Parts: sequence; C-alpha cells; structure tokens
Amino acid sequence: MKNAWVAELVDARDLKSLGENLCTSSILVPGTKKKIKGFGLLTKTLFLNQSKADNSFMDKIQIIGGRKLRGEVSISGAKNAALPLIASSILVKGKTRFSNVPNLMDIKSIRLLLEDLGATCESQDRYLEVDGSSINKIEAQYDLVRKMRASILVLGPLVARFGHAKVSLPGGCAIGARPVNMHLSGLKALGAAISIEHGYIEAKADRLIGNEIYFDMPTVTGTENLMMAATLAKGTSVLRNAAREPEIVALAEALNLMGARVSGAGSAIITIEGVKNLSSADIKIIPDRIETGTFMVAVAAAGGDVLIKGCEPDHIGGIINKLKATGATIETFTDSIRVIGNTPVQSVDIKTLPYPGFPTDMQAQFMTLMTIADKNSMIHESIFENRFVHANELLRMGADISISSGNIAMVRGVKKLQGAQVMASDLRASASLVIAGLVAEGTTVISRVYHMDRGYEAIENKFSLLGANIERIK
Ligand code: EPU
Repeated sequence: MKNAWVAELVDARDLKSLGENLCTSSILVPGTKKKIKGFGLLTKTLFLNQSKADNSFMDKIQIIGGRKLRGEVSISGAKNAALPLIASSILVKGKTRFSNVPNLMDIKSIRLLLEDLGATCESQDRYLEVDGSSINKIEAQYDLVRKMRASILVLGPLVARFGHAKVSLPGGCAIGARPVNMHLSGLKALGAAISIEHGYIEAKADRLIGNEIYFDMPTVTGTENLMMAATLAKGTSVLRNAAREPEIVALAEALNLMGARVSGAGSAIITIEGVKNLSSADIKIIPDRIETGTFMVAVAAAGGDVLIKGCEPDHIGGIINKLKATGATIETFTDSIRVIGNTPVQSVDIKTLPYPGFPTDMQAQFMTLMTIADKNSMIHESIFENRFVHANELLRMGADISISSGNIAMVRGVKKLQGAQVMASDLRASASLVIAGLVAEGTTVISRVYHMDRGYEAIENKFSLLGANIERIK
C-alpha cells in the first residue's frame, strides 16, 4: 500500500503543472488516517478531495489491445489554433466570439488566465465569448502561467493594447528548454523595453512601432505573439523566417476579421500594417491536425477502416505522405479522410521539421507505428532536444529502440508489443502510448493521463466508439 502511494506521489510532483502546491512534509494515505513522512503534502488535501483541484489528475487509461478500429470519428477544434486565437481577444475592446472550441484542460487554463486579467468569458458547449473591454490587469501570474507554457501568448496582445505587460517567464518543460528569447527580441524590435525580474518578463512601450523582425528559426508561438503585437503598432512590421503552420494562417485570418491588416501568413514573410484598434468578430476554430494525424496513425497501427470526419486534409500533407509509405491506404475528401490499416507495416524514416515538414507533435505516435514495422527506421527529432521520453515506455512494452546522439532514434520493428503499465510524460507521448496499447497483446495501463487531457478531447470515448477496448479508470 505504502509503495503504491509513494509511486503516485512521484506523479503528484507533476501537479505543479496543474497549479497545486507541494511542500515538504508528510502525506495522508487516501481513505485512511495513515501518514507517509518525507514526501509532499498537498496543500489542498488533494488525494482526499480531488474535486477541489482537477478531478482527473489520478485517472489512468486502461486498454486491452488487439482490436481493429472501425467506423467514424469526428475531429475537434485545434488546441494550438484556439490558444492564440483566444489570447488575441485581449486586443479587442469588445466581444470576440469563438465556435468549435475544444473541451480541453489547456482551453480552461487560457480562459482562467483571461478572467484573471479581468476579461468576461461566457461559454456554452463549443462556444466561447470573451469580452476584452473589462480587462483591468496586465499581469499574468506564475500560478496560471506554470500550468501552460502557451500563456506567453498574452504578452504581445497585452503590451500592444495597454502599453505594459508583466508575464511570468515560462520555465523548462518535459520536451526541452523551450526559451522565449525570440518573442522578447521581437518585442524589443517593436520598441518595447523588456526586463526580466523575479521570474517575470515586463514589457513597456507607449505604442509599439512597426519594424522588421528576423527569426533565427521559425517559432510558432513566437510568430503568433509578434503578429498579434504588430497589429496595433504604429506603421508596418515584417516578420521574416516566420512559422508557416496552419494555426498561423488561422490567426492571421481572425485578426483580419477584427480589422487588422495582415498579409503573407502561411509563407515565411508576414507583413502587418498596424491599425489603431481592433473590433469584435466571430471566429471558428480550425480542426485539429494533430488529433487527425493521431487517429490516422492509430488505424495504420491497429488495423481496420476508419472515416475521420471534420478534418482538413490540406493541413496534413506531411503525415499523409509518410503514412502512405508505411503501406496504409489513405483516401482524402473535402473535409474527411478514410484510413485503412494494412499489414505488414513498412518501415519509413522520419525527420521532424517546421511546417510543412513532418510535425514534431506527431513524432511520438509515429514511433509507436514503427515499433511494429517490418524493418528498421530512423526517427530524427530536430525541433526539441528531449522529445524521446516515450521511447523508454515503449521499451517496457517490448519495443526495440535505441537512441543515439540524443535526437536520433533507431527503431527495429518487432512482431508484437505487450501490454504493460506505463507512464505518460507529455501530451503527445501519452497519445503514442494509447496507440501502443491498442496494438499490444494484453492489458496496458497508462498513468499521468492529465497530460493527455490537456490536448485530446475524450480520446478514450472516441477510440471506444471505433471498437477499441479502452476505458478511463480511477
Ligand atoms: N525556440 C527558441 N527561442 C524562442 C522560441 C522557440 O529557441 O524564443 C526554439 C524552441 O526551443 C524549439 C523551436 O524553437 O526548439 C521551435 O519552437 P516553437 O517556438 O515553434 O514552439 P512553441 O511555439 O513553443 C508550438 C506548439 C507545440 C509544438 C511546437 C512546434 C503551441 C501552443 N504549441 O510550441 O505544441 O510542438 O510549436 O511545432 O502552439 C503540443 O501541442 O504538444 C506542443 C508541444
């Protein structure tokens, strides 16, 4: 009993990302009066009253593998499009209305952050309305930012509209150091005075002034932050070597609906002519291309025949190309994709690259597919320096993977994976383990699924509807 709860405590350290505080003391074993000394005490008696915090943090996903996937699945709105779009409502002294909003932990986090700034938010089903006219605070607190790195997206809009922003500096992350230096040098180029003190970034400018910004490498949220900031700057800004992801295009289109003048999004050069203010707009969140790719890889790995509905095939050319090379049958339609899994799965090498290259957010899922391929494959992660943590968990399921030089993995295909108890280390790692569980012989139990809840909406329900034997357990 004691060991089991000590093991859960290791999980509990990740609660920092859910905004819970740990202090060094003892813990109460849930359901008993026993204490274990020398480990963290959760300040909100979390184990005993999970509902006060996040009621899913201890959940696990259990999968009994071996079933083929059949039927239809609908794709939700894209997390990584929704986050900058919702942040952009700070630029508007009025209401911004969003539809097709995914029901995700990260969306709750950005909403909480906006409400803390004073914005009024109302939601119903997949609809969210943000009224930015009541914003009366320019500080994004550590307790809110540490839950989600993408909170940095409020920096550009706040300084652009209010001339002042104070945002907690996001720390490191499970997949890499992830600095924000390019966000800051870009804001400096627009005339903001930047200082970092006591863990907070402070940016000040009477009014930002348009300028040329050259990114050392394409940065997705960096491009988004600077694009938003430049909309209210005086004069024209040009972002060079900008990220080209579909989420950038979606943001540019939304900003233009609000009255901004952004052109070139989707190419490496984005031009923004500053305007005095932006106004209310209705914005529909684009489909999640990474959720789409995750279901595609799952079908290719587990076998079966699935129609993936409500997606945007044009956004996932890199994934389609690689999956076809593995032998999967893929038919694309206007807003849906049919995937048929075929055997043997053929080995294919991948290298992650900025869009339109193969996305780093699909690397973990693709690695799982390669574990059961016919030969060897090389997986090269070129975006983040520590994005192979899932490989160690896949090894526990019988995969044969060796990692050389930190960012290249050699995956030797095995005949089958075996169910095991495994642990998710980040959002996409959790998806790779779900796919492994669907393929494996026997039972897989995945812990730390709160990582998954940040970015996949009801994934177990969606797979269950496709015939998988998958459930969330406490
Ligand atoms: N980088 C810097 N300095 C900066 C900014 C980035 O060195 O100022 C580096 C990063 O460390 C990384 C590379 O540039 O090596 C690219 O990072 P990028 O800034 O593009 O990543 P991001 O904007 O922080 C977004 C997604 C990630 C996705 C990456 C890459 C959102 C909210 N997040 O992160 O999504 O992996 O782009 O495509 O859009 C996920 O959804 O699981 C996820 C991690």
